[in-house]
Amino acid sequence: PAASKTKLLSIQDKIGQRIAVSGWVHRLRLQKGLAFITLRDGSGFLQCVLSGDMVKARQTQELTLESTILVKGVLNKLPDGKSAPGGVELKADYYEVIGLAPSGEDAFTNKVQEGADPSLLLDLRHLALRGETLSAVMKVRSSFLAAIRNFYIKEHIREVTPPCMVQSQVEGGSTLFKMDYYGQEAFLTQSSQLYLETCLPSLGDVYCIQESFRAEKSHTRRHLSEYTHIEAELAFIDFDDLLSHIERLIVSVVTYVLEDPVSGPLIQQLNPGFNIPKTPFMRMKYVDALKWLNEHGIKNEEGQEFKFGDDIAEAAERKMVDTIDHPILLTHFPVEIKSFYMQKDPEDLRVTESVDLLMPNVGEVTGGSMRIKDYDELMAAIKREGLDADSYAFLTDQRKYGTSPHGGYGLGTERILAWFCDRFTVRDCSLYPRFTGRCKP
Ligand code: 4AD
Ligand code: MG
Repeated sequence: PAASKTKLLSIQDKIGQRIAVSGWVHRLRLQKGLAFITLRDGSGFLQCVLSGDMVKARQTQELTLESTILVKGVLNKLPDGKSAPGGVELKADYYEVIGLAPSGEDAFTNKVQEGADPSLLLDLRHLALRGETLSAVMKVRSSFLAAIRNFYIKEHIREVTPPCMVQSQVEGGSTLFKMDYYGQEAFLTQSSQLYLETCLPSLGDVYCIQESFRAEKSHTRRHLSEYTHIEAELAFIDFDDLLSHIERLIVSVVTYVLEDPVSGPLIQQLNPGFNIPKTPFMRMKYVDALKWLNEHGIKNEEGQEFKFGDDIAEAAERKMVDTIDHPILLTHFPVEIKSFYMQKDPEDLRVTESVDLLMPNVGEVTGGSMRIKDYDELMAAIKREGLDADSYAFLTDQRKYGTSPHGGYGLGTERILAWFCDRFTVRDCSLYPRFTGRCKP
């Protein structure tokens, strides 16, 4: 019978049929009289067995890993006790080589070796992406982005696409990437928040999935120079609404990726036992975090006890959330250590209605706040920050032409993935990571 062209993802529906599959030689084992090829097409894996003359043929004897081939044959279920991906095997009756990969010194396995120098593997990222772990993380990433859109659709929040090239800053001048824009100074966006705020009056609640850029000078496990930023802005909410919205978002996306037939099993492989976190998440005020840190003998940046106004740096933050081992909504940071646009807490003007969501093993995955809604107060904050008020008229006009209480947040895709997939660094969660000193391939 004619073979039907099949992607490996849907192989289970084809048992007993003659099929045609194409892909890359992921593994290869030549035995006397038999050749076993694990084929990979990006959607799945399939064991193919060649026998008889097909094994003796020169193209088989010279076949190399990562070559592309087309194989036809009948797909059989394997008896219990024999193992292969999906418990099936293709008994090949025809195959051809489409693209032969090099052998010898240039062979794939000589170039990309697990455990090799990370910077070499980053130079060869285009090849390293073919590895089982990296490709698993990228599949989880794809499912996560679907989960995000699924959540916002459920919540009737509209997607917009703000610009990447901007002339305003959101999170401080020190991490701006500057560029020449037809002779004017412009920047790569740090956050689309201000643009989202401008959409509320016309579109209602909005979100975006957009690259953000940060000229971070430090090398850390969780900082990239370019990352995929998911941001949302919600009108006529209060701070409590914001916190419960963030909690709903996390539960919804975790449920989605775990239930997804592709990403669910991959997450269990990468991070056994990973599950939907229990709600409600712990809510902890900044001042209580300081108390917790001091009680546990963790020191601030100067090696002293934490005091009001101190930044809780990455190591201390992670120590705390790893010990508590549960998501923490850390709230009410002091005005001085937070961004200029944040609304003050009416009950304690020293602090802001701000929140960082901390996850075990990663720390901060989300940062958000209520926004200053009063025109004069925002103007004053802009001036205090040393920014040119005219360049922010597009933001202050939101307060002039019908202000509203509103708030929002940004979520780092690579950090969430590091949490899902138990990766040591966010670099493993980006397709082609950019960080200090690396902008290629
Ligand atoms: O806390 P951040 O800087 O907050 C903002 O940009 C707000 N304007 C967002 C908003 O309210 N719309 O960044 C938000 C999140 C962080 O919690 C973190 O997960 C991620 O973005 N992030 C980074 N991820 C990777 N590399 C970096 N250099 C990151 N900087 C922030
Ligand atoms: Mg932050």
